[in-house]
Amino acid sequence: MEWFQLAIRWIHMITGIAWIGASFYFVWLDMNLTPPEKDGYKDKAGVGGELWAVHGGGFYEVQKYRLAPPEIPQTLHWFKYEAYFTWISGFILLTILYYFGADIYLIDRSVADISTDAAILIGVGSIAGGWIIYDQLCKSPLINNQMVFGLVLFALLTLAAFGLSQVFSGRGAYIHIGAIMGTIMVANVLMIIIPGQTALVSAAKKGEAPDPVYGLRAKQRSLHNNYFTLPVLFIMISNHYPMTYGNSYGWLLLAGISLVGILVRHFFNMKNQGRAKQGFILLPIAFVLFFAIAYAAAPKPEGVPTEKISFSTVEAIVHERCTSCHAAKPSNTDFESPPKGVRLETPAQIAREKTRIKQQTIDTKTMPLGNLTQMTDEERKILGWWISQGASTD
Ligand code: HEC
Repeated sequence: MEWFQLAIRWIHMITGIAWIGASFYFVWLDMNLTPPEKDGYKDKAGVGGELWAVHGGGFYEVQKYRLAPPEIPQTLHWFKYEAYFTWISGFILLTILYYFGADIYLIDRSVADISTDAAILIGVGSIAGGWIIYDQLCKSPLINNQMVFGLVLFALLTLAAFGLSQVFSGRGAYIHIGAIMGTIMVANVLMIIIPGQTALVSAAKKGEAPDPVYGLRAKQRSLHNNYFTLPVLFIMISNHYPMTYGNSYGWLLLAGISLVGILVRHFFNMKNQGRAKQGFILLPIAFVLFFAIAYAAAPKPEGVPTEKISFSTVEAIVHERCTSCHAAKPSNTDFESPPKGVRLETPAQIAREKTRIKQQTIDTKTMPLGNLTQMTDEERKILGWWISQGASTD
């Protein structure tokens, strides 16, 4: 199962890079095209923009037609399977980790004590619902005002993050926002962008002018996808950073960090349009915002009692709450080996892990995983005090 998971995760990453890499390239390309010489042979042939590039030992000349070339070539490259396979592999990963493993990764009893079925239903429902609401929003008059549309979408996703964080573990809430956004992106490709391109090609083959509505819609949806990329990529790596999803305001942190990503993306879009100077201010804003979030989220120092916490108390807590998973041979049957190699059996092992224990159980409540072993706040405090007092095992 672990090997299968590794294979799927690897595929997810490869297809994701291929998809987002190509889409970054095409956005860049589109914004950097320059019109060919007026009345030159290219202009007469219907070329609307051109670009020269050098890469990997060769020169490339790219041309974009205003509408369609006089004849559709035999081989025409489409870019869609990268997107589809990213979604498929992502959904398989979500299923194995968060649905088969709902009990440990998705549900957190200190947040909401829901059944596995309810959790999975909410998860899948939120992904499907996300697309339905977004798609309806795109079909409403709101789509005509980019700024308002963006703000409404941002507010709705933040609301979803807040809502999901009331029923799931922090990690489960984050990955579902990522899945909602990723699904919207892939569904945009499948349902809007590719059908639009199909219509474009078939109109060109018949020598007809394509209905401009297809191009317009595809452009709107591509733009949304473009702004989604950096926040989604953050969510996909957020797993490694419990200080984000594990914060009690994790949903707000997610909104803030997403905003950083959107600002950076916006700067690059402006830069590609030759407006780097006007957009430059966005970078220091994003930078300051990022570190303001880090500062606000940092754990605040708490008063430590002068009375020494005895190690036997600490050891008893760790053995009761942690060792069922974090042992050479975990008694929790979901684990064959100690998760992340963290063993908390002997005094030396417990003392060695003091920094990570603080991060995982005191600064955030990510451990015990899903609070399966029902650790109390009082016990967390005691562990924290012991660490602040120097974590001695005497
Ligand atoms: C139900 C099983 C379970 C229990 C109980 C549990 N953990 Fe964990 N722990 C895990 C899993 C699974 C991971 C790996 C998480 C991941 O994949 O990011 C982990 C990871 C960790 C890590 C490494 C984090 C990192 O990314 O570096 C530490 C430290 C840790 N746990 C400490 C504790 C402490 C302290 C307790 C008790 C208060 C505890 N755990 C209780 C399952 C558990």
